[in-house]
Amino acid sequence: MSNLSIIRDSYEFGIEIMCTNDHLRRLIQRQAIRTASTIRRDGIFLILFAGLILTACGKQKYKAEEDKAQPIGIPYEVKAPAGLPPVPVTADNRMTAESIALGRRLFYDTNLSSDGTISCASCHNPENYFSDSWPKAIGIDAQTGPRNTPTALNSAYNVTQFLDGRAGSLEEQAGGPIANPLEMNLPHDACVAKLNQDQKYVDEFARVFGPGRITMNKIVKSIAAFERTLISGNSPFDRYQYGGRKDAIGAEAIRGLAIFTDRNRGNCATCHPIGDKFALFSDGKFHNVGAGMNSEGELTDMGRFVQTKVEADRGAFRTPSLRNVAKTAPYMHDGSLKTLKEVVDFYMGGGNSNPQLDKEMRPLGLSARDRSDLVKFLESLTGEVPANSGPPVKE
Ligand code: HEC
Ligand code: HEC
Repeated sequence: MSNLSIIRDSYEFGIEIMCTNDHLRRLIQRQAIRTASTIRRDGIFLILFAGLILTACGKQKYKAEEDKAQPIGIPYEVKAPAGLPPVPVTADNRMTAESIALGRRLFYDTNLSSDGTISCASCHNPENYFSDSWPKAIGIDAQTGPRNTPTALNSAYNVTQFLDGRAGSLEEQAGGPIANPLEMNLPHDACVAKLNQDQKYVDEFARVFGPGRITMNKIVKSIAAFERTLISGNSPFDRYQYGGRKDAIGAEAIRGLAIFTDRNRGNCATCHPIGDKFALFSDGKFHNVGAGMNSEGELTDMGRFVQTKVEADRGAFRTPSLRNVAKTAPYMHDGSLKTLKEVVDFYMGGGNSNPQLDKEMRPLGLSARDRSDLVKFLESLTGEVPANSGPPVKE
């Protein structure tokens, strides 16, 4: 990079807006014009000059520091219940009791939408196991979105977020719905400005992150910290499989489990795996199972393909966890299947045929009893919803 481009890039990063010193600004502008002709002669001067810009504009530096803001305070450890591995945390978002409480408040706050009617919990409702009961999500102005709302429970374990994996972390995910015009419709700068006007939030953010303005980075980190406490395990299946309680589930569910894991019968665990010590029921990968096709036999949602542009990803979605699945109907990315019985019947037919159909999908030869056993097994995956996850009590 030449010295000239250092100056030009500094300009493009908005230094002239950030410097309050008018004199310095004019100096920089004049200098930038002059440098074009003197760049070779004046190389050393330019290096010094670039240094001057960076030290004179403290605000630019401050902004960078702010982006790395971490919760202060004593780290809080979330205990994983029976059947689940340790909760993954990220190094740059240490969880504290205060950041979790703030995230919980934000999660339930309808002020994070443009007209004050929608919060994260409008769609990820604790009464519906942090999902909703609609085929497709309903957001601001009663607009229907393109996809079914997945549960936010156990989303901490997702390798990627969103059904097409377009967000790499819970922090990255949380900004999406706030700005999404079909969901909460509040652009990030408006969101930040709104919260900075609320003294209670300003104080609470300062308690969590130390002094400074509220930023999007701090908002999404708090929400993500709360989501990492939305862990649900210790289901009857977990007590049976990992807790040594052989009476925790009935004979039908036990038979259903055998069908689920048998490659020659249900073949379900190939994509919804059950491990030796814990079960996530998701391989974290994207598969086309042929759900969501129209009457012409065309895929209506390209899923993962939109992100990767890889042909094989057409109509592929990340395997969902099946924990609490009995509580989160309707099913599939488009909410097209109403009951677990319908889902099992769908798999019986090997999914809808299409060029990208996963090679693990094939018609199943299960008897009526087998199918009802499978449903009983899926019903045994309903776990406990953690305490302190509902709407916070208003002061
Ligand atoms: C209007 C309904 C709606 C609102 C409001 C909403 N979500 Fe969602 N959420 C969805 C839908 C639909 C998806 C799946 C979208 C997709 O895959 O394209 C989703 C996906 C997610 C996921 C990823 C889950 C997974 O399995 O990949 C998380 C986490 C999440 N939302 C958290 C939040 C948070 C936090 C908020 C508030 C800041 C929020 N949601 C607001 C409907 C909503
Ligand atoms: C090839 C991998 C694969 C196999 C095999 C498979 N699944 Fe799935 N499963 C998925 C994917 C991917 C989805 C999401 C599809 C979508 O949204 O379009 C899904 C969705 C589901 C859902 C709906 C979850 C929800 O929240 O909407 C249930 C229930 C389910 N599978 C159960 C089963 C059962 C039972 C079997 C065995 C009979 C099975 N799966 C076999 C990959 C698989």
